[in-house]
Amino acid sequence: MKINGKHQRTVWVAKDGWTVEILDQTKLPFEIEVIQLDSMKLAATAIREMWVRGAPLIGAVAAYGMALGMTEDTSDEHLQTCYDVLIETRPTAINLKWALDRTFAKLKNVASEQRKAVAYQLAAEIADEDVQLCESIGEHGLEIIKQIAAKKPAGSTVNVLTHCNAGWLATVDWGTAISPIYKAHEAGIKVHVWVDETRPRNQGLLTAFELGSHGVPHTLIADNVGGHLMQHGDVDLCIVGTDRTTAKGDVCNKIGTYLKALAAYDNNVPFYVALPSPTIDWTVYDGVKEIPIEQRSGDEQSHVYGIDPTGKRSWVNTAPAGTECGNYAFDVTPAKYVTGLITERGVCAATEQALDEMFADLKRPELV
Ligand code: MRU
Repeated sequence: MKINGKHQRTVWVAKDGWTVEILDQTKLPFEIEVIQLDSMKLAATAIREMWVRGAPLIGAVAAYGMALGMTEDTSDEHLQTCYDVLIETRPTAINLKWALDRTFAKLKNVASEQRKAVAYQLAAEIADEDVQLCESIGEHGLEIIKQIAAKKPAGSTVNVLTHCNAGWLATVDWGTAISPIYKAHEAGIKVHVWVDETRPRNQGLLTAFELGSHGVPHTLIADNVGGHLMQHGDVDLCIVGTDRTTAKGDVCNKIGTYLKALAAYDNNVPFYVALPSPTIDWTVYDGVKEIPIEQRSGDEQSHVYGIDPTGKRSWVNTAPAGTECGNYAFDVTPAKYVTGLITERGVCAATEQALDEMFADLKRPELV
C-alpha cells in the first residue's frame, strides 16, 4: 500500500541484494524509519521487540531471518540454531511456526552450498504469496461490505469497527481485516472505520495512520467505546484479524477482541474475522485451553509513546510508581461468536466442518 503516495511493502531485500529492510513499527505513526537487518539474531530481535508485528508479517520476517542465517553458516547445526532462535521470539501467532517449518523442511533437503540461495528464494515466495492471499481476502470481504451497503438507504455510509492493526502493516501488503475496507473504498462504497486504540501498545494508531494515508474516513476511539456504538446502531459490522485460528474456528487475536465479539453478539452486529490460511493451526482445537497467550512487560501497560510539545517522540509513564502491571497480549474468541471467516478462498462459517471443506487439501495434503 502507500505512504506519502509511494507504494511500500513492510519487508524487502535491500539494494545490496542480501540485507533485509523493514519499517520500524515502534516509531510509526510518528516517524518513518527503515531498519536494515544483517543477521539472523537481528531478525529475531525485530520480531521479539515488535519492530515488525502482525501474524503474517512475523512469518515473512522469520523466513528472511532464516535466509540471513544462511549467509552466516549453512551447516545443519546452524540451520537448527536459526530455527530454535526464531521460534522463541513470539509465542502466539502461528504464522511464525508455519514459515519456519516450511523453510526448515525445504533447506534440510538441499545441499549446504545451495541453502543460501534457496532460503532467499523461499522467503521471497512466502512474502509474495502473503500479498496474494491478503488481496484475495480483500476481494471476498468486499462482497460482504457490498451486501451490507445494499441493505442500507442509498448513499449511506457503512460503518466498520476494527481492533488492533490488521492492515497492510501487519502483513507484507494489503492486510487482512483492512483489505476488504481498502477494496470497498476503491470500489466507491462509502465506508467509515471505527478504530479501537488497542491499549496497551496502541496498534490502532497504525490503523489510523494507514487509513489516513489512503483517504479512508475513520475515527479513533478508546477501547471501551465499541459496545456503546453497537447499542446505538452505529456499527454495521466488525472485521478483525487473528493470530491463530483453531481447527474448529476459535480465533485468537489482540487482547480485547473477545469483548468486542460479545458486544457484537448481544447487539446482532455481524462479527467477521479475516485470515490467510497459514494462520490456521490444525493441531489445535479448543483455543481457550490450548493457545499460548503471550504476556509482555508491564512497562508497556504503565507507559505510552507520544509526541511532546517540541515534536519529539517520548515514552511517558502514566501509572503510579511501583504499580503491578499485567500485560496479556491476546485473547480467544470462541467460534460461536464469529459470524464468518474471510479467507483467501472465500467466506466460510467458523466451524470445523466448514474449515474442513474449504481447506481439506491443506489439512490433509495427501488428498491433493
Ligand atoms: O501484537 P501484534 O501487534 O503482533 O498483534 C497483531 C494482531 O493481533 C493482529 O490483529 C493479527 O496479527 C492479525 S493481522 C493481520
